[in-house]
Amino acid sequence: MVNEFMQAEAVESKNLPQIGSDLAAQIINAVVSKEHVAGLTHEFYRYPARFSPLFARAMIQAFTKPGDTVLDPFMGGGTTLVEACSLGRQAIGTDINELSVFISKVKTTPLTDAEVESIQVWAQALIPNLSLRKTTAEVGNKYQKNIHGKSTWPIRKVLELALSQVPLLETEKKRQFARCVLLKTAQGALDCRENIPTVSMFRAQFLKDLAKMLEGMKEFRERIQAPNSTCSEVKYSPALCLHRSAIGIEEDENLRKLAPPSLIVTSPPYPGVHVLYHRWQVQGRRETPAPYWIINGSDGKGESFYTLGGRSRQGIEKFFKQTQAAFSSLARISSRKTLLVQMVAFSDPEWQLSEYLSAITKSGFREVHFSALSNSPDGRLWRGVPNRKWYAVQAPATATNKEVVLFHQLA
Ligand SMILES: C[S@@+](CC[C@H](N)C(=O)[O-])C[C@H]1O[C@@H](n2cnc3c(N)ncnc32)[C@H](O)[C@@H]1O
Repeated sequence: MVNEFMQAEAVESKNLPQIGSDLAAQIINAVVSKEHVAGLTHEFYRYPARFSPLFARAMIQAFTKPGDTVLDPFMGGGTTLVEACSLGRQAIGTDINELSVFISKVKTTPLTDAEVESIQVWAQALIPNLSLRKTTAEVGNKYQKNIHGKSTWPIRKVLELALSQVPLLETEKKRQFARCVLLKTAQGALDCRENIPTVSMFRAQFLKDLAKMLEGMKEFRERIQAPNSTCSEVKYSPALCLHRSAIGIEEDENLRKLAPPSLIVTSPPYPGVHVLYHRWQVQGRRETPAPYWIINGSDGKGESFYTLGGRSRQGIEKFFKQTQAAFSSLARISSRKTLLVQMVAFSDPEWQLSEYLSAITKSGFREVHFSALSNSPDGRLWRGVPNRKWYAVQAPATATNKEVVLFHQLA
């Protein structure tokens, strides 16, 4: 099928770094790998359609040096930002989803030993309070939809009890981390689960999640401070996680002070591919916005808001217009040296790939080609997708089983 796709234009630019055969093999392995990668803070949340840390890591290592700026304008679960920080790069991300911003911030905000200790003390004191016999002052929340059922209400109730204890932590940083642990345990209990766990299982899982997350956070902190790491000469600067659209990013005050990104590595929403970034699916196809309740955030938007357009015919048309607008903004903050790397999938690649490439070209970028980084007759780098939870509405099931890596620079 890939033979029929537009051939990647063989543009070799003098601004492109050289990719030797060893490095090329490493990058291709990282892209096609189906290995589940844990470690650092990557396991804090299962963000839908997240890419592998190996992909982000390989791109950052190959195309930037410590101290460079790495941007992910569709940051999702913050995979790029975690990798960029842990490799000593200045990480910046934007996303219109408050859930994405919450998760990315918690994942890239190191905790001190004293903070870890106080969260552990808080969690131990919390456990005896997570009992259905206890009463809560909580009077309901608009984001509790579809978690009032026979098997889900006990989980809702223990979450109410736990959330009511979060203010006992003295700082916002510790409160956000605590909410993130509850978010993880609640996602494991409710999202895409046929059998909802009991309250005692929830309590045990919460302590396990807390321990794993603190371990991941410790590893993250050691990495950003490691005296012998490759980034020892660069002072760590916190990631910038901005709650905003990629469209209009050139007007953002936060970016004005920074140098243009050396690398933009990202994965925008996919055209016509149904992904729920803002809901959990409870027992079948009932959807809940409960994550916004747990993070104390706000949602109030439909699927098309988070997917640059949605699944309908008009939605897909809008997708291409919005994509062009977003990449035009990205072109305005890029320099001649900026490399744009995207991982993209399509519900119907036959026509959508060329439409997509045309939107990126109209934005002011041109496709560049690394001859060493190709595994397909069209000159591009493709990968099979393992076990993705999404629904392609327009095309045969095989269509979204592939993703392609696209490289661009300013035209
Ligand atoms: C495929 S996900 C990114 C996943 C990410 N690479 C990861 O590893 O978790 C795409 C993200 O784009 C965000 N998004 C959609 N429209 C946006 C826009 N106009 N500006 C910024 N982010 C947007 C969605 O909220 C979603 O989080």
